Amino acid sequence: MNYSHAFHAGNHADVLKHIVLSRLIDYMKKKDAAFRVIDTHAGIGSYDLSGEIAKRSPEWKNGVGRLLAATLPQKAVPLVAPYLDVVRALNPGGKLETYPGSPLLARKLFRPQDRLSALELHPEYAKRLGTLFEGDVQVRVIELDGWLALNAHVPPKEKRGIVLVDPPFEEAGEFERLYDGLLKAHGKFAGGVYALWYPLKDTRAVHDFVSALRDCGIPKMLRAELSIRPASNPPRLHGSGLILVNPPFTLEGELRILLPALAQLLGDPGEGRHKLEWLRGEA
Ligand SMILES: C[S@@+](CC[C@H](N)C(=O)[O-])C[C@H]1O[C@@H](n2cnc3c(N)ncnc32)[C@H](O)[C@@H]1O
Repeated sequence: MNYSHAFHAGNHADVLKHIVLSRLIDYMKKKDAAFRVIDTHAGIGSYDLSGEIAKRSPEWKNGVGRLLAATLPQKAVPLVAPYLDVVRALNPGGKLETYPGSPLLARKLFRPQDRLSALELHPEYAKRLGTLFEGDVQVRVIELDGWLALNAHVPPKEKRGIVLVDPPFEEAGEFERLYDGLLKAHGKFAGGVYALWYPLKDTRAVHDFVSALRDCGIPKMLRAELSIRPASNPPRLHGSGLILVNPPFTLEGELRILLPALAQLLGDPGEGRHKLEWLRGEA
């Protein structure tokens, strides 16, 4: 388990995932009732973009760096505002030095009644995450295998929840674990909103994963993908996707605005593409 998200923090994949997470949270807040975000692969929560790792791998410059400097289409501006407001608030001097991971972004968007369960298996990362949220009664940091949490931590006691599953995809079998994990969690918490992240790299693996999802019987599944360059051989990461189960009814329309804007902004010149399709609609 050697994956360090610090190399990738704020890149195109983080931008897509974190904007979508912010849209899901925004929708949840339309009702007063509390909700819980369960972040099964949480990372360390806050990333130093001025540190050695980010300097060696400045992926964020072509991700959140471009977004902060861009003039977006007018309709996209309010949709990215909650996410960008959090990023800006963490960097009061204007220079981008700190980037929020998913648990910190979620927490910053919460109301007093909302809760976060953040799971992280790497002992050192879990410790850092624990320190970040020390004394915060709205957050529970748990050093645990996130795949187990998909069984043990759903449904949340609030009965309203977003489950983000964002594995590192460094080991073989992650697509299978993602598929099995969704089936297990959905069996216990069919009303939950799920966001499953996957890399666009191995075209065959994505195809098989999506085909299996189409046939698995779970209704209301939206597939959203953003690629920044064409697929290559040998394969390297060229984009990312999210499977959204039970997305808010507003999300499809929002993604029709956001995805083309992000593809144009974050893609190599003329090479950005997006995909948005229902794998399954209503049951
Ligand atoms: C892609 S990063 C998470 C990034 C984070 N969700 C964000 O958006 O800021 C994946 C994280 O999962 C952790 N991890 C790897 N295997 C795990 C497992 N089985 N259970 C929980 N965490 C795991 C890694 O240590 C790494 O910090």
